[in-house]
Amino acid sequence: GLASEGGSKLKMLLTYIHTLPDGVMFILFGIAIGLRFDLDCCVGFTLFLFLILIGNYGNDIRNADLYSILIDMSEEGVYYSLDLGGTNFRVLRVRLGGQMSMILNKKVERQPIPQELMTGTSEELFDFIALTLKQLVESESSEFEFRLDERMVLGVTFSFPVKQASASSGTLIKWTKGFDIEDMVGKDVAESLQHALINRGLNMRVAALVNDTVGTLALGHYDDEDTVAAVIIGTGTNACYVERIDAIIKCQGLLTNSGGMVVNMEWGNFWTSHLPRTSYDIDLDAESPNPNDQARMSLESDIFGDATARLSVPFALRSVLHALFVPFAKGREQNNHAYPVKGSNATSLLTYSFKGLPGTPLMVAMHEDETSDLREVGRVLKEVFQISDVPLKVRKLVVRVCDVITRRAARLAAAGIVGILKKIGRDGSGGIASGRPKSGGESTIKMKRSVVAVEGGLYSNYTMFRDYLHEAVSEILGEEIAPYVVLKESEDGSGIGAALLAASYSSVRKDHTS
Ligand code: GLC
Repeated sequence: GLASEGGSKLKMLLTYIHTLPDGVMFILFGIAIGLRFDLDCCVGFTLFLFLILIGNYGNDIRNADLYSILIDMSEEGVYYSLDLGGTNFRVLRVRLGGQMSMILNKKVERQPIPQELMTGTSEELFDFIALTLKQLVESESSEFEFRLDERMVLGVTFSFPVKQASASSGTLIKWTKGFDIEDMVGKDVAESLQHALINRGLNMRVAALVNDTVGTLALGHYDDEDTVAAVIIGTGTNACYVERIDAIIKCQGLLTNSGGMVVNMEWGNFWTSHLPRTSYDIDLDAESPNPNDQARMSLESDIFGDATARLSVPFALRSVLHALFVPFAKGREQNNHAYPVKGSNATSLLTYSFKGLPGTPLMVAMHEDETSDLREVGRVLKEVFQISDVPLKVRKLVVRVCDVITRRAARLAAAGIVGILKKIGRDGSGGIASGRPKSGGESTIKMKRSVVAVEGGLYSNYTMFRDYLHEAVSEILGEEIAPYVVLKESEDGSGIGAALLAASYSSVRKDHTS
């Protein structure tokens, strides 16, 4: 019912957030586990995901809700957005040009979130956000010739589990990724932000409140209409995809313009015994701020998201390194994992915590060390553990550990992506049923091109991770189907997408009120 008429070039994104009762989840778990036994981890997980998706279940989200958002690319003007939820907080400005249906220009400012704000009060956090936004708006007011007393439109990307009430409001279900601001849980995010904006004298209206996956999908779809899903692999991990509305149990009978909706999966929280956890994962989970929570995410990303590192890491590395080096450095004799390293500085490690271990940049440096004597690995180990002269044999082992962890994370992400494609019939399983190439003959596959927008530090900055991910997606899809699936890197899509959605949604409201 939100559709605007007229000749403008329209693109529709319908966002849907949805759940089934826990009982259904357990039945699906049971089926998945029952089917598991002779499947390898990846295939098993894909199957699990598939089963989950059949039920259209996002197990983080309580109370089904939905909203639809229309992207009208003929929209003109300057739009702002905020992006909160990764290692960095971003404020963005997007200038849209109507005639050409284009983003004319954009500006993105990144700031690490001060650690104390992640666990302080909601008032402090939102005030910091409002102030940062105000600084950007004021620095640009003369350039764009708008008056600060004119009401502006704001898109908000808030990348935490939210119970969505409308396109522009929703309450926080729980924090993830190291955030822990108790007074915010259960509160309306847009409303709290709106107060902070008013207190800072900013005349802005929150017109869209979206998850980062949804923002990324919006920009992905704006750039390339074949984009069917968006995946984030960074400080956290998650995915959303466009589903046929008639395939969504809770939307039976509902009509939308495009016949589709976006499902925010919150896949970081999917869990199954299919996913083998090592003792390192279990130890690390126990030490995390949210034990037993977002369990899959912990294998694939870095909930600790070290703000100074600017990148995330599959944080299992920390756990393994801890087991390898810390006990030895602490001077304990009885450990099973310590290797003969010289010159340890035991006292400096007594204050050791997981957060002190290397973030992704250091992991990348070690993993991609091409020197014949693995000098870089030695340097990092010295920097982190103050241990000199780690033998070459041990340095090689560290590289191997980096490789195993990265590969595992990438293959899990790949299984999730193929699970989505399978659910929406883009993995070739339906399309080639009657069209398997006959021996020696022409391929009769009828496949649509499918684009998956991928965003996040782990994907963008970790070449080995990216390579493993692409390799695994191709491997699972098979060589006939893989060429039809494109993983497209997206940058700042989560925030820019929110600005596009805000522009579009505000124009829909204008159309309907005028
Ligand atoms: C966490 C959040 C989710 C977000 C993801 C990536 O899993 O719960 O909402 O999309 O991180 O930032």
